[in-house]
Amino acid sequence: MKVAVLGAAGGIGQALALLLKTQLPSGSELSLYDIAPVTPGVAVDLSHIPTAVVTKGFCGEDASPALEGADIVLISAGVARKPGMDRSDLFNVNAGIVRNLVNQVAKTAPEALIGIITNPVNTTVAIAAEALKKAGVYHPAKLFGVTTLDIIRSNTFVAELKGLEPDSLEVPVIGGHSGVTILPLLSQVKGVSFSEQEVTELTRRIQNAGTEVVEAKAGGGSATLSMGQAAARFGLSLVRALQGEANVIECAYVESDGNLSRFFAQPLLLGRNGLEQRLPLGTLSEFEQQSLHNMLSVLKQDIELGVNFINQ
Ligand code: NAI
Repeated sequence: MKVAVLGAAGGIGQALALLLKTQLPSGSELSLYDIAPVTPGVAVDLSHIPTAVVTKGFCGEDASPALEGADIVLISAGVARKPGMDRSDLFNVNAGIVRNLVNQVAKTAPEALIGIITNPVNTTVAIAAEALKKAGVYHPAKLFGVTTLDIIRSNTFVAELKGLEPDSLEVPVIGGHSGVTILPLLSQVKGVSFSEQEVTELTRRIQNAGTEVVEAKAGGGSATLSMGQAAARFGLSLVRALQGEANVIECAYVESDGNLSRFFAQPLLLGRNGLEQRLPLGTLSEFEQQSLHNMLSVLKQDIELGVNFINQ
């Protein structure tokens, strides 16, 4: 199993690389790429950790040496938010970075599963899909927007509120990955009930959790450690699915059946070919139905921005 991380010298990339070095199955290869010249050094640093995961680092303009033979490519390259910015402010810089990197993936590792972490995810996944399509190698089952951070935040916040073990919970989060498009399905958390006020407040906190970190870091960036953990969880689920493990389920933002919007985050069954099956959203409370209805125009605009960026 070869996993490539693009943007590997960044805050997320380094945390993710550390977790993958310690948690990938023995015999795997971890390939780190970033434009920053420190990247081969990050790989050397990690290589001193005694696990049977070979770690190599590459820098410069050309990502292809890092991508050769990759089964999974996780992309966190790009700029992060500063206070006062929302995710859409990142579009101008990150759109071009994602297009460029995905074009290189299309050439060198066209069959790889791709996880896009770079924000704004609602838009960068559409950019990646259109770029892959142009290159003639778009496999909708192999492209994922990584929304796992929304799930782990939801699990943490619900556990805090209700005095439960955080790892005993799993909150499905659907929609997209910014503001009102993030919709935790609190009504589906087993064995827990919430008052109306709790639902409103928790939903708002989960939607704004990224900003909580951006403000607390006071100009030093956005979530990197929790995101590293989230991306590692998602990446390791992809590894397990590729290796044939059954019942690997994660929420992620993928090309959907088109009923709600072209791309949509929902629970997915993962398998040897990536996305095996989109799982049903289940029964939604009235609040959730209304929130879903309200988000769709935002989500569609975000997607259109990405499609137009490639096709203009
Ligand atoms: P960072 O600034 O610490 O790291 C970004 C890295 O990307 C840097 O090392 C930089 O050299 C590299 N880079 C820039 N252009 C590149 C290119 N063309 N090719 C290769 N590498 C390139 O940022 P951080 O905190 O790691 O965040 C990365 C991205 O992840 C941001 O867009 C951020 O908004 C996003 N993010 C996504 C989350 C999610 O839930 N999906 C959560 C938090 C952040």
